[in-house]
Amino acid sequence: MKTRITELFGIEHPIIQGGMHHVGYAELAAAVANAGGLGMITALTQPNPEALAEEIRRCREMTDKPFGVNLTFLPSVKQPDYPGYIEALIKGGVKAVETAGNNPAKWLPILKENGIKVIHKCTAVRHALKAEAIGCDAVSVDGFECGGHPGEDDIPNFILLPRAAEELKIPFVASGGMADGRSLVAALALGAEGMNMGTRFIATQEAPVHENVKAAIVAASELDTRLVMRPLRNTERVMVNDAVERLLEKERRLGADLKFEDIVDEVAGVYPKIMKTGDMDAGAWSCGMVAGLINDIPTAKVLIDRIMAEADGIIRQRLAGMLG
Ligand SMILES: Cc1cc2nc3c(=O)[nH]c(=O)nc-3n(C[C@H](O)[C@H](O)[C@H](O)COP(=O)(O)O)c2cc1C
Repeated sequence: MKTRITELFGIEHPIIQGGMHHVGYAELAAAVANAGGLGMITALTQPNPEALAEEIRRCREMTDKPFGVNLTFLPSVKQPDYPGYIEALIKGGVKAVETAGNNPAKWLPILKENGIKVIHKCTAVRHALKAEAIGCDAVSVDGFECGGHPGEDDIPNFILLPRAAEELKIPFVASGGMADGRSLVAALALGAEGMNMGTRFIATQEAPVHENVKAAIVAASELDTRLVMRPLRNTERVMVNDAVERLLEKERRLGADLKFEDIVDEVAGVYPKIMKTGDMDAGAWSCGMVAGLINDIPTAKVLIDRIMAEADGIIRQRLAGMLG
């Protein structure tokens, strides 16, 4: 399939693996790249720029196809060494960067000077337009369904994607709730040039996370995610578990008085415990509603080939057939 996104990134299929904390390691990025999609290493999962440089080297050993790096700009007080991470990915010859979180304007000149294509992830049309105005090459439009941070507007993709299509000139991919060939065709119909998936890619053979995480996603239904941290205006969609129930109880009890310190036990330092150790009640971890559509743990290649075959069948047979 050829779209503006496959052309932009030099990939075979219009499918991107979004950055994921403690999931987006070289193994997954390379597997997605080898399957013809765009895999992403998650920069901030690496403790420092040297470790990111090594992760990029490892990924290159596993694939000769293009892959990208996710740079998440956090509102935290103690800022990570962004210049160092950016230098590492430039030196590593990376040509695609997924930015997320705060406005990436400050970092665009250096990325563009080095021939890097930038796709910014946003949860609102106004943010997508801002990304276009500052010179991003594409955007990833993340609907209310998504795992992770859906923003505070709560607009699902059935509205958000066509709204983005009405306003944007640069190409965009649909993100949030994407799982299969049906998702891809729907995303294309709504104006996107491809799709970005997070949760679906965790439940693949190559995702280097504990088997308990994959099993939890397969077992979950579309009813099993919750929104946490809304009172802090840092809303996150997570898989429900004991820690999340506790967190929500604190949110109800403390109301507008809730502070980050009140929920530190449920959210800080949780990812290694979940993703590495498989301690599924250790805290709140991002997961999309799309878990309800995930029933197996294929390789990235089987998954992507299946998506493309299914999309082909829907377009050529089901849809074309309806036109008679
Ligand atoms: C476990 C997990 C961790 C994530 N970590 C990040 C992250 O560090 N940075 C980021 O930009 N997005 C992160 N995301 C969001 C994904 O890149 C992607 O936008 C989202 O998962 C799309 O929704 P979906 O899960 O319905 O496919 C994360 C998502 C999940 C499920």
